[in-house]
Amino acid sequence: MAKIFFNAQCSKEFKMESPSRFPLDFHRRLPGYQPTPLLSLPQVAKQVGVDQVLLKNEAGRFGLPAFKILGASWAVFQALRERLELAVQDLVSLEDIGRFVGAKHSLRISCATDGNHGRAVARVARILGIPARVHVPAGTTEQRMEAIELERAVVVMGGTYDESLKRAANDGASGALLIQDTGWDGYEKIPKWTVEGYSTMFWEVEDELERRVGVKHIPTHVFVQIGVGSLAAASVRHFRRKELFEHPVLIGVEPEGSDCVLESVKAGRIVQLPGAQHSIMAGLNCGTPSSVSFPELQKGIDCFLAVDDERAKEAVRLLAEVNVVSGETGAAGLAGLIELCSQAHIDSREALDLDRDSRVLLISTEGITDQEVYDEIIGKK
Ligand SMILES: Cc1ncc(COP(=O)(O)O)c(C=O)c1O
Repeated sequence: MAKIFFNAQCSKEFKMESPSRFPLDFHRRLPGYQPTPLLSLPQVAKQVGVDQVLLKNEAGRFGLPAFKILGASWAVFQALRERLELAVQDLVSLEDIGRFVGAKHSLRISCATDGNHGRAVARVARILGIPARVHVPAGTTEQRMEAIELERAVVVMGGTYDESLKRAANDGASGALLIQDTGWDGYEKIPKWTVEGYSTMFWEVEDELERRVGVKHIPTHVFVQIGVGSLAAASVRHFRRKELFEHPVLIGVEPEGSDCVLESVKAGRIVQLPGAQHSIMAGLNCGTPSSVSFPELQKGIDCFLAVDDERAKEAVRLLAEVNVVSGETGAAGLAGLIELCSQAHIDSREALDLDRDSRVLLISTEGITDQEVYDEIIGKK
């Protein structure tokens, strides 16, 4: 049975400074930039009983299957600027920085990942021409590891995600540039820049909707999947910014058994879930929230849901029916919407004003990362 938690610590009055558009401008200058598609899915809306379902499809971001390069590229860019004391005007592109770094410095990049973040970091390191080492937990599929290796990074496998993180942090302590999408005491700048990098997605959604409708058009509900919470923090910053009169209801979706943010918000402090997490929503298998994002999630996410793997599979299949190829983690937001729209949650829906008039935004954060698993889910095998 899914878990639902209404966040009493979150108030209507909580507003944040507007996120800057610098990351969007930076991403626009990267090779191969294109805004990802914003799809309208009337068939899905009808099935779950809302007015509109919009889906931002991140499956092809810079030719990678997930959104994560938005955070990784901005974080690396900012970190190098700081470490090498470069002025902004020196940094025309990542390739230019790479040439500068290559000529004068011997730099290495390290990170931990359960797939997408590591692949994104490896891609950025490759563009820069800097060697990268990526730590992955035991059980990471061959396909995910190969994808990282194809970006010319060295992959080191073993232990849980949190143990991979410790190994990457050790690399950082011995001089590598540690690019992590999660924060802890004393490691805050990079994850903060990562969250900033994700803002590009939300600006693209807003600009595209304004272009289509002719006026500012904000969804009434946003379902956002949560691993360590950096993506969700970007949604809080965007949709709870000061100049928006009314903010959408923000709903965070985690896998059952990996619901570290739900449990932490419930406890009123960061808690670490014991052991390894085994959801098929692999990108969300995290045991500890990011310390950088947690305070914003605590104040800014209205409701948390923990859904099981069957819901994720159902969501993957429903998206496949409308020709959207989304992986298990990518479809997690829709899994949350399906769950909330099921018979068991009539009262919760009412409390969240989720009804026939609602305009829902989902983000398919990844496409297929493992073809075999995907085929099995949609019944192709
Ligand atoms: C595809 C995908 N979606 C969502 C997330 C969740 O993002 P966060 O860890 O910032 O909560 C991840 C994290 O790795 C991911 O890979």
